[in-house]
Amino acid sequence: MAYIPAENRYQDMEYRRCGSSGVKLPAISLGLWHNFGSITPFNVQQSVLRTAFDHGITHFDLANNYGPPYGEAEYNFGLHMDRDWSPHRDELILSTKAGYDMWPGPYGNWGSRKYLIASLDQSLRRMHVDYVDIFYHHRPDPETPLEETMAALDYIVRSGRALYVGISNYKPEQARQAIQILRQMGTPCLIHQPYYNMFDRWIEDGLIDVLQEEKVGCICYAPLAGGLLTDRYLYGIPADSRAGHDPRFLKPDSITEEKMKKIRALHALAGKRGQKLSQMALQWVLRDRAITSALIGASRPGQILDNVKAVCGPAFTQEELDEIDRILRA
Ligand SMILES: NC(=O)c1ccc[n+]([C@@H]2O[C@H](COP(=O)([O-])OP(=O)(O)OC[C@H]3O[C@@H](n4cnc5c(N)ncnc54)[C@H](OP(=O)(O)O)[C@@H]3O)[C@@H](O)[C@H]2O)c1
Repeated sequence: MAYIPAENRYQDMEYRRCGSSGVKLPAISLGLWHNFGSITPFNVQQSVLRTAFDHGITHFDLANNYGPPYGEAEYNFGLHMDRDWSPHRDELILSTKAGYDMWPGPYGNWGSRKYLIASLDQSLRRMHVDYVDIFYHHRPDPETPLEETMAALDYIVRSGRALYVGISNYKPEQARQAIQILRQMGTPCLIHQPYYNMFDRWIEDGLIDVLQEEKVGCICYAPLAGGLLTDRYLYGIPADSRAGHDPRFLKPDSITEEKMKKIRALHALAGKRGQKLSQMALQWVLRDRAITSALIGASRPGQILDNVKAVCGPAFTQEELDEIDRILRA
């Protein structure tokens, strides 16, 4: 069936300006790291993407190595592009990245000009698009000069392969340097993509300040800690959960009793606020206006429906924020 997006799709989502750029991102964005490779049925992927767009999620985030196997999420997205998204290309912000191991030999990893440009050309072919809206350097490279990596990003924009560029997993001072080099080249850095959720608050220790000073956006990945900050694991490890069926990055033995205690306390607090833990966790990440978007994953459409409601949850009181800090420190 041809896809006809919901008419009221822009009604409820909040859109936040990305740094000082002209672009706004939805407060909730969708990543295709998990659930878009060879182990997820195509029709499930399709309904997750359609549900997201129908509820105002205009940003889909990919990377060269999302799968499994590597490249498969981009390949599948190319098929979705042909079936559903080509007529809506101008309503979408699509991103991809390179920076981790992708193909064998010395040119398929890290941050050389050789790797980044070749990888993006491969990504564009897999995704069936002429350009991406944002291309990221996925992680800092300790050996390649930062100037070379940033010059590759500058070239990528000038050559029309991407409209904007960003960086991911850069520490505060590395981020500042990268942002300043890009600015000198005339290609502003649009956005930084760091890991951030209630369990890991490292960006509060300098990175947010740098991004605000430099007027760069911030999209936080894994705001639900891979599913831990939801009701998924309250009663054990379900077979169809990430830890249950695809534990490459969420190992069952990392779900300790100590963590579960905090999750149960947070769940109870969310209940008092009249919302789900997942919604409270997303609203918490978005409580600072310096955060442009929370970049979630989802294995089924119902999770998207739950998560988009985070943008209209009740504002936090200072007592609730203090209570969250106390639970997390315990
Ligand atoms: N830049 C980087 O280095 C980097 C690294 C990692 C990720 N990312 C990006 O961030 C995106 C999100 O990462 P993530 O998938 O780890 O994010 P996440 O949002 O923390 O976790 C997503 C998982 O949480 C569970 N979930 C989501 N909503 C739920 C709900 N309402 N109720 C119950 N469970 C729910 C689902 O797990 P189940 O599968 O168990 O249902 C889902 O797959 C990625 O797709 C990628 O785009 C970037």
